[in-house]
Amino acid sequence: MDDQKEWPEPIVRVQSLSESGAAVIPSRYVKPPSERPCLEPPSSSDDGEGLGIPVIDLGRMAGGGVDCPAKIREISDACRDWGFFQVVNHGVSPDLMRRMREVWREFFHLPMEEKQRYANSPQTYEGYGSRLGIQKGAILDWGDYFFLHLLPPSLKDPNKWPKLPSSCRETVEEYGRELSNLCRAVLGALSTSLDLDAGYLQRAFGGDDVGVCMRVNYYPRCPQPDLTLGLSSHSDPGGLTVLLADDHVKGLQVRRAGAWVTLQPLPDAFIVNVGDQVQVLSNAAYKSVEHRVAVNAAAERMSVAFFYNPKSDLPIGPSPELLSPERPPRYQPMTFDQYRLYIRQKGPRGKSQVDSLLKSSPPCHYSTTVNSDGS
Ligand code: OGA
Ligand code: NI
Repeated sequence: MDDQKEWPEPIVRVQSLSESGAAVIPSRYVKPPSERPCLEPPSSSDDGEGLGIPVIDLGRMAGGGVDCPAKIREISDACRDWGFFQVVNHGVSPDLMRRMREVWREFFHLPMEEKQRYANSPQTYEGYGSRLGIQKGAILDWGDYFFLHLLPPSLKDPNKWPKLPSSCRETVEEYGRELSNLCRAVLGALSTSLDLDAGYLQRAFGGDDVGVCMRVNYYPRCPQPDLTLGLSSHSDPGGLTVLLADDHVKGLQVRRAGAWVTLQPLPDAFIVNVGDQVQVLSNAAYKSVEHRVAVNAAAERMSVAFFYNPKSDLPIGPSPELLSPERPPRYQPMTFDQYRLYIRQKGPRGKSQVDSLLKSSPPCHYSTTVNSDGS
């Protein structure tokens, strides 16, 4: 069961359901009333409130770090307060961002037979997928995705990346290099903002041996968007997530003080959020905040989530430098290999996973099996 090789039920592509033109979604996608999205009334003018999360101007030249004390302070406030922020002037070229969106939009619009060559399995999740979690009978999310590994080199297999469109592989390579640089710089700023030395979190992640993977999310149009979600509430299990979202179709919602705030990405910005591993390393000074995706009837939406993670076999626990008698360690250490089996088996489930590491809760024994490929 733990290393299940196949999905428990035949996979249905959400894109096919959407394109069938049916006016009603299958009951497998209907969420219980408490989980349904609160869709905003359509408004002709943006009320400004939609910006929500802090916007941080990194003022960063390509390859440069972030060391201005005022910016560090903004980042610290954003990580404590929201767990999310947008970055502008981040040093990644808008042209590369545009090309990345373009190749993936083209991929998802290829004929189904072409995409099916990359159909994924729950063993590694690499490839074209339509569900997270392997629980039979689970209520599913209204989205398809493509998942791939960039690092470590042993997990990177460009042959599993789409051959079409023809520029896909080289665009992903270039994007991977640029985003890894950005993540390293942001992680440096996060370290400094926690009063740690700038290289601290990068070292805690394993130095040059970090793990990097990517999920391109594709949310087709949905005839009943008020009944379902494109991605159920979750916090990201890894270290840091940098999201390239559509700037003309909203959908991402972040939990704040019990309410859901819909984000409005700025043009050419990235959305950055703290993952569970940073929450653990910072001993909960920084929060990995729950988020989810609402879908809509009028337009499809796409996003590219870039995950920057600790080396998968290092035990990750609260940093000793951040502990004191007043601030005892809140979490028990666990490797990321063990940790991510939870979301891979159970699917997105709010913050139940990181909470299971709390010292006061009984140790969780969901599984200690690690796939042979280390994913
Ligand atoms: C994710 C995620 C948000 C989005 O992939 O983990 O939260 O807007 N995506 O697609
Ligand atoms: Ni997420």
